[in-house]
Amino acid sequence: MTTIAIIGAGPGLGAAVARRFGREGHAVALVARNPERTVALAADLTGEGITARGVVADVRDPEALAAALAEAGEALGPIEVLQYSPVPQPEFMRPVLDTTHADLVGPVEFSVYGPVAAVQQVLPGMRELGRGTILLVNGGTAVVPHPDRAGTSIAFAAESAYGHLLHDTLAADGIHVAQLVIPGAIIPGHHRKAPAVLADTLWQLHRDRHGYRHFADDLDA
Ligand SMILES: NC(=O)c1ccc[n+]([C@@H]2O[C@H](COP(=O)([O-])OP(=O)(O)OC[C@H]3O[C@@H](n4cnc5c(N)ncnc54)[C@H](OP(=O)(O)O)[C@@H]3O)[C@@H](O)[C@H]2O)c1
Repeated sequence: MTTIAIIGAGPGLGAAVARRFGREGHAVALVARNPERTVALAADLTGEGITARGVVADVRDPEALAAALAEAGEALGPIEVLQYSPVPQPEFMRPVLDTTHADLVGPVEFSVYGPVAAVQQVLPGMRELGRGTILLVNGGTAVVPHPDRAGTSIAFAAESAYGHLLHDTLAADGIHVAQLVIPGAIIPGHHRKAPAVLADTLWQLHRDRHGYRHFADDLDA
């Protein structure tokens, strides 16, 4: 059994992806900051017959994130799939002219240092397995910057570039890197943007293994 590590695993997309990949036989590591919620989600999944474990880390602490992923791999089995999808903090979304260099520390830690630390931690194991998938999930500002959401717009663009470089560099090693851009909000019941539908889209990206950037919906939807 191999593991999917979901970094930023909450009750919405994180839980849906856990169920989708769990149904396919993967163990699930749920990484988030809140120990009670993470353990409770893992217990729910375990009750549904999915092997799951909550692991606590703040993605803005690269060492803690790497340690959490190491713990998850040891406890559950090698990490074949890494999904990076923590929900950004509201204070990252300030108007561009109100955004100082200091305001960009958080977004860059969150969307650049976090993914780089996570990828560096899991890559050796993926190489050993001979396969792997890295899934980055972002909002629409990754593609079209928004003047009132400067922090996420700038940091998502950097994360996007990192993922694209990884996509091109790791393809020959059997490691597929893809980005799912979700324009607008995740909407329960929506035919393209409900958590379960998005989880299925992410499963298909992992299964079909082509192309870097994918859109969950039209950008102007
Ligand atoms: N929700 C939307 O409308 C929307 C729209 C477009 C794109 N997206 C994308 O969808 C993904 C999130 O899906 P979701 O909104 O349904 O969220 P979710 O999976 O329900 O929860 C995400 C979890 O991220 C965790 N998180 C936040 N900051 C963190 C940090 N610093 N370190 C570790 N974990 C952290 C939070 O748990 P803790 O508080 O316990 O850490 C939260 O429960 C993200 O990639 C986001 O960019 C969401």
